[in-house]
Amino acid sequence: MGDSLRKLAGDVKRFLAAQEEDELLDISRPRAAADLPPATSLPVQTAHAQAGVSVAPKMAENSTLTVDFPRAQQPTTPPEPELAMKKQDKTAALNELAEVIKSCTRCPLGATRLNAVPGEGNVNADVMFVGEGPGFDEDRQGRPFVGRAGQLLDKMILAMGLTRENVFIANIAKCHPMTDPLHPEKHGNDRAPNAQEIACCRKYIERQIAIVCPKYVVALGGVAAKALISDAGSLGALRGKFHNLHLDSVELPKPVQILATFHPAALLRNPNWKKDAWQDLQMVMDKLGLKGARK
Ligand code: URA
Repeated sequence: MGDSLRKLAGDVKRFLAAQEEDELLDISRPRAAADLPPATSLPVQTAHAQAGVSVAPKMAENSTLTVDFPRAQQPTTPPEPELAMKKQDKTAALNELAEVIKSCTRCPLGATRLNAVPGEGNVNADVMFVGEGPGFDEDRQGRPFVGRAGQLLDKMILAMGLTRENVFIANIAKCHPMTDPLHPEKHGNDRAPNAQEIACCRKYIERQIAIVCPKYVVALGGVAAKALISDAGSLGALRGKFHNLHLDSVELPKPVQILATFHPAALLRNPNWKKDAWQDLQMVMDKLGLKGARK
């Protein structure tokens, strides 16, 4: 065999050996560099196992088994996890929770209430309104926001282009906090829930939010805003922007944003704040593509 023939035989042998190694490591298919996420240096088997997928490692010059290994490529649109509850499961979970709330005596309000007020509305609502606690009328009817403040809330909801049937309405405290609990028949006997009452009730509103899992929670007034966003900031500091909602006792199936605005009762006392409240609500409308009530 002449020199050139011997060289050709050697080249073919090296080519075939290299092909075999390529196949073994699955590197034969070329990839656009832009397609590849940043490389990490890991042994092939470890990286495959960690990534859980078959990916194409870029061979180092000396072709050892320790290679610069690209991380598994993330799908551009990750599949939605099946975390959201079905409508009938949400209804059942909320009804069950409402029964627990109705027999709750975790704080002294349980002894003086006429009716607990768990909350109500659309279990698949995009927007959930959360007030501070039931007043005189709510205590009598067992339903949230049915007094004068509730009538204004209804107008606010309608102005957004929604109805009470579209949204979910609840409170931080589920029983009527009274300044004079010995006389529940008295008018003007409302007060905000105190820290102990809020702490006792917190898990109920948190569970309701996690079950309904709305896109947006609107905290009505300082009590709801401080309870759900931060106990440090004033309503003035918290309103006018969206916050990420974090719950203490349950995990949200998906991220929920919360916006704080004025309580309708405060708007009845200070009608000049309505303009600012309307601006807050329009932020939610913009996010949801709501055009508002037709004039
Ligand atoms: N105020 C609230 O905060 N909640 C109600 O349900 C009624 C009035």
